[in-house]
Amino acid sequence: MTQASSSTIAATLVSAPAYVKHEKLIAWVSSIAALTKPAKVVWCDGSQEEYDSLCAQMVASGTMKKLNQDKRPNSFLACSDPSDVARVEDCTFICSASKNDAGPTNNWMEPAEMRTKLSGLFDGCMQGRTLYVVPFSMGPIGSPIAHIGVELSDSPYVAVNMRVMTRMGKAVFDVLGTDGEFVPCVHSVGAPLTAGQKDVTWPCNKTKYIVHYPETREIWSFGSGYGGNALLGKKCFALRIASNMGRDQGWLAEHMLILGVESPEGKKHYVAAAFPSACGKTNFAMLIPPASLNGWKVTTIGDDIAWIKPGADGRLYAINPEAGYFGVAPGTNTLTNYNCMASLSANTIFTNVALTDDGDVWWEGLSKPAPAHLTDWQGQDWTPEIGRDTGRKAAHPNARFTVPATQNPVIDSAWDDPAGVPISAFIFGGRRSTTVPLVTEARNWVEGVYMAATMGSETTAAAVGQQGIVRRDPFAMLPFIGYNMSDYFQHWLNVGKKIAASPAELPKIFCVNWFRTDAEGKFVWPGYSDNMRVLKWMVERVEGKAAGTENIFGTTPKFADLNWDGLEFTQQQFDTITSIDKAAWQAELVLHSELFEKLDYHLPSELKTTKAQLEKRLLA
Ligand code: GTP
Ligand code: SPV
Ligand code: MN
Repeated sequence: MTQASSSTIAATLVSAPAYVKHEKLIAWVSSIAALTKPAKVVWCDGSQEEYDSLCAQMVASGTMKKLNQDKRPNSFLACSDPSDVARVEDCTFICSASKNDAGPTNNWMEPAEMRTKLSGLFDGCMQGRTLYVVPFSMGPIGSPIAHIGVELSDSPYVAVNMRVMTRMGKAVFDVLGTDGEFVPCVHSVGAPLTAGQKDVTWPCNKTKYIVHYPETREIWSFGSGYGGNALLGKKCFALRIASNMGRDQGWLAEHMLILGVESPEGKKHYVAAAFPSACGKTNFAMLIPPASLNGWKVTTIGDDIAWIKPGADGRLYAINPEAGYFGVAPGTNTLTNYNCMASLSANTIFTNVALTDDGDVWWEGLSKPAPAHLTDWQGQDWTPEIGRDTGRKAAHPNARFTVPATQNPVIDSAWDDPAGVPISAFIFGGRRSTTVPLVTEARNWVEGVYMAATMGSETTAAAVGQQGIVRRDPFAMLPFIGYNMSDYFQHWLNVGKKIAASPAELPKIFCVNWFRTDAEGKFVWPGYSDNMRVLKWMVERVEGKAAGTENIFGTTPKFADLNWDGLEFTQQQFDTITSIDKAAWQAELVLHSELFEKLDYHLPSELKTTKAQLEKRLLA
């Protein structure tokens, strides 16, 4: 077929609804349809009817199961191909014009070379499938802080998940008008169907590419239908592309939850916290303070991503660009996260959890003992005995739920306020079984940036690869910074300088670790609700009310500085999670040095100076 005739066919196929008035967008959809050759093009309007019918279609095709309507109304279970269960960092690329702009922590390929490669992969890749046009807004529709994207995907699972995770639908086209800006996102599971070929329940391809062109602000994703690989508004747009926008325009796109915390006296602060994937953001964002800490309240703005912009008063204001939570299921239960369980009571899409015999869901950590019989996430029989004998989990460790944010009983009243909420403190926390103490306050912005930049964390099931390996995960953003990491550090330093020059106070920066273990490998810190005790100390530090002691790294509380009402936790236990082992820290500093060597190009000199001072104090 000639180019001209294939694009004529595509134009007929595409036939945009009358309310789409954006010629460039329609031309782009036509060109992608001409390239990928879907059987059909569907423009998503974001309505409930459309969502319901796509879900029904996926139930009919076997991609999803409808859960027991009495137990979990309007909820579904999708189980993925076992080869497609998490983000694929090795196949994720930042294709900036210059390699230095991607930096040493990102995979890079020359944009022209990548475009050639992708043209080959996308050619005909949607054959036999429907191309869904998914218009979405990150942030409230029409608000000045929001940014628009359009995802073209051949996955109905992506279309319904995008409706939960973003503001998706027709209204986006009104905002776009005839020439509004949008980030083009092309996604294919990479599994064309020949005429008459029977589909599988979770199509995907073993070749995967998650590609970002930061200069032209485009996203191309091939081969995976799972999570951040496929729901392109999330990590690809709201972090990797948005971090580029933020660098150019003076704001921050961060892998952070945002919560509101109100004292018994009614004083409210907002804090933003960056923990790496599967290290506790969703749980911290919905925390219920222990009853013994009478009168403290926590409310949620967001659980995964924060866009943070300086306001006219010099303070930093944060918004949650998402509209739903794509959260980790395993470990979640009514004791650890009651608010999350309440959120999941209806209208939820579960992926890769186990199915109970009465048509509900189950995952490791949901209840004890486990049900006597389950269908595991791979569709096989599972009993506690099988689990014990084979080590097989009923739910995949990266099994997740997709749920509208509005179902969270403690959603903050300002959660979708376009003005955002003022940030009083930043918290950074890794998953470290050793070395890193419960909480440390940086003495100043630069020291805080140093702590965040050198943060290490044990790898989790959220990304494909070996788990439990300590790696540097600066700002919990290692997989998500869309440009050179040293330039990103510099950007943070610049933001601090700008606030320092304004009448506003700089937010305080803290570093936490909920995950120190004892000799038996058990977590010493109870975590979850009890993290409120640390949050209370941090908020009172912001207010200049709580005591702290300076040490080599910063300021930390003594045992007596935290509230222990209603918890049996001894001074000795406290010591095991706050002690500073000099030898361990000397080894840790070697890892900081390795990171800094790797990031030498453009590494801010302030960070090198901070490290030198730290080394001196450690030797003293
Ligand atoms: P992403 O969605 O991947 O970015 O993860 P997240 O940072 O939101 O992590 P999430 O809150 O979903 O927690 C991940 C896992 O850590 C779950 O199994 C939780 O039960 C567990 N977890 C969360 N908070 C704590 C805590 O305070 N202590 C302990 N021991 N485990 C926790
Ligand atoms: C993460 O891995 O940090 C997630 C899940 O929040 S995903 O959307 O798959 O990136
Ligand atoms: Mn995340």
